[in-house]
Amino acid sequence: MSSGRSFRSLHVSQHPAVLHKLALLRNEAVEPKKFRELVREISWLVGYEALADARLQPIRVSTPIEETDGFKLADRIGLVPILRAGLGMVDAMLELMPTAQVWHLGLFRDERTLRPVEYYNKLPDSATVDLCLILDPMLATGGSATAAIEVLKKWGAVQPVRIKLVNLIAAPEGVRAVEAAHPDVDIYTASLDRELNERGYIMPGLGDAGDRQFGTGRSD
Ligand code: PRP
Ligand code: URA
Repeated sequence: MSSGRSFRSLHVSQHPAVLHKLALLRNEAVEPKKFRELVREISWLVGYEALADARLQPIRVSTPIEETDGFKLADRIGLVPILRAGLGMVDAMLELMPTAQVWHLGLFRDERTLRPVEYYNKLPDSATVDLCLILDPMLATGGSATAAIEVLKKWGAVQPVRIKLVNLIAAPEGVRAVEAAHPDVDIYTASLDRELNERGYIMPGLGDAGDRQFGTGRSD
């Protein structure tokens, strides 16, 4: 797997815990229960890295001994999971940022055209957050991510709101597409994989992230 240094906007986690869990996640023998646990654990670790530059406000705090300087989070954080597969990343991110708002966005990829189709969007009329994290385990062609970013930008999330994309596995094709359309959006991922196959699946990837989490897509 590549370190992703050729992409300006891409941050590929090098953390040993991420790399260890990623190999387990890819394993086709892993059942949905374990797969969901791994999605959650890796999301926490990648999300932690994505939040490293969240803004802080200085505060004073009283310990039992004396008063001292401290910080509180200044950014209002928005989590935007892309249904379905992004759902599995929400709990981990809420553990990290318990006050975050969660705005669901329903997008599925038409498997014939590989283009995203929007089917659920209940965002309020104007932006209510300062930093938006789009959550989706897979960045393949980049169609879904690009569409999600466009929705958020129309919502008013361009300025001063910052948008980041948090994935578990990204394909170079998807990173290139997002970087070309939205150079202001940074991408955080556990892995940059080799390429897409002719059906738009990431290789080596992990298969269909939604199906593997929710136990669908099997005929047995
Ligand atoms: C998957 C994945 C992304 C999208 C990535 O969702 O979770 O949203 O495909 O592909 P792209 O980069 O080529 O757009 P899918 O459409 O399979 O929907 P699901 O989460 O409901 O299974
Ligand atoms: N969506 C997935 O779930 N997996 C892929 O490899 C590509 C798109």
